[in-house]
Amino acid sequence: MIIRSEQLSDYGEVFKLNYLAFGNREDESKLIESIRLSEGFIPELSLVAEENEQIVGHALFSKAEIVDEENCHEVIVLAPLAVLPSNQKRGIGGKLIQEGLKRCVELGYTFVFLIGHPTYYPKFGFKQARNYGFELKQFDVSDDVFMVLELTEGNIKTTIKGEFRFQSHFFN
Ligand SMILES: CC(C)(COP(=O)(O)OP(=O)(O)OC[C@H]1O[C@@H](n2cnc3c(N)ncnc32)[C@H](O)[C@@H]1OP(=O)(O)O)[C@@H](O)C(=O)NCCC(=O)NCCS
Repeated sequence: MIIRSEQLSDYGEVFKLNYLAFGNREDESKLIESIRLSEGFIPELSLVAEENEQIVGHALFSKAEIVDEENCHEVIVLAPLAVLPSNQKRGIGGKLIQEGLKRCVELGYTFVFLIGHPTYYPKFGFKQARNYGFELKQFDVSDDVFMVLELTEGNIKTTIKGEFRFQSHFFN
């Protein structure tokens, strides 16, 4: 299995994969289409897992913001992440996350946020974001699902605080 950047020719397969992984609904597939067309899209952070010429997993890391009274900081959000149902529990989701985080570091980002399963993402270092002073107003979710990962140690307590904001595409 290889993890690589998504190409234009993968779009159809990625749509189908997300449709199947999210229980035969199109919401996430359509969200991906919107993000691809947005300013927040970073092509090298749309990752696919490929095996035997089939795409078995996909992860999309894109731009988001932390806003306080004076500043706006660019951060990354991971959403969505999906593995083909027949290929789950083989570590593919984990490999996509790890490769994505590595690429985020290489691109100079310091924080990755997400809303997700509270027992899955902590395995990769994600922690409850509200514990570090980050707010979320756009979605009403419990503390355990709003998470952050600090890519370079030492920033959380010293550099930024504020409200985490998804791009507007997450609401259309
Ligand atoms: C969540 C998902 C991406 C994980 O991918 P994966 O390749 O199966 O994950 P990995 O093989 O790296 O890890 C498997 C572990 O994740 C756990 N896991 C899978 N789904 C989970 C969930 N909804 N909540 C908590 N843990 C979950 C498995 O139980 C397994 O645990 P174990 O290692 O203790 O046995 C995949 O299950 C999926 O596509 N689910 C449907 C779409 C979805 O919910 N996406 C995430 C949105 S936040």
